[in-house]
Amino acid sequence: MERILLGIDVGGSSIKAGLVDVEAGRLVSELISTPTPQPASPQAVVDAIAKLVSRMPKSDGPVGFAFPSVVKNGKARTAANVDRAWIGTDGAALLGDALGRKVVFLNDADAAGIAEMHVGAGRGLRGTVIVLTFGTGIGSALFNDGVLWPNTEFGHVEFHGKDAELWASARVRTEERLDFPAWIERVNEFLAYMHGLLWPDAFIFGGGVSDRFDEFSSLLRSPCPVYPARLGSQAGVIGAALAAAHFG
Ligand code: BGC
Repeated sequence: MERILLGIDVGGSSIKAGLVDVEAGRLVSELISTPTPQPASPQAVVDAIAKLVSRMPKSDGPVGFAFPSVVKNGKARTAANVDRAWIGTDGAALLGDALGRKVVFLNDADAAGIAEMHVGAGRGLRGTVIVLTFGTGIGSALFNDGVLWPNTEFGHVEFHGKDAELWASARVRTEERLDFPAWIERVNEFLAYMHGLLWPDAFIFGGGVSDRFDEFSSLLRSPCPVYPARLGSQAGVIGAALAAAHFG
């Protein structure tokens, strides 16, 4: 029987929601979104999610909630691109109370990675795979033989004296007005560095900018294959719903 679950993906700039057929691993509703409130305090984010959900067809069952922070035992532990008040917040309980539903709370890049590994570019890939999402920050999800090692936060390894995401995220590309050759040079350095640390068998290149992969793929240099993410901006929502199906 088909099971339809709600996935929510909170990013630095927008919040997305969609209904996902978790057997097929695909959206069965429109992907709707709203700007992330600024400041992105816990209550403001949860209110924005509740409003977004009220615009969607009714659904039930557990809800997957992907969020850009380290998540340990249901609590956010970091807040790089959101309000610091999230640190220590039990995201599952807060959103669960607002929606009256069980909520599974997880890191956004881990959610996107789960989706890519199950139904996207990583399907069938064995060995060590690193999914990177280039957006407001750089998110990472590390898999070995399809099993996730959560909360890796490779966007925060120190690179050129600062967090890697402050050097090579998609936001930095826009803010510093870097063209693809200049930006990909930074990305290539980052991939080489990550490769030296973990010797992955493949990278999966995700985040909104992966929609334009064809425009910069010829510039990418990596010791192992780099595959474009297949699920684009839907990955976090689909992965959140898959996590809810699994852990909810
Ligand atoms: C956060 C990560 C998140 C990534 C992508 C980083 O700044 O620390 O938790 O996965 O941005 O949103």
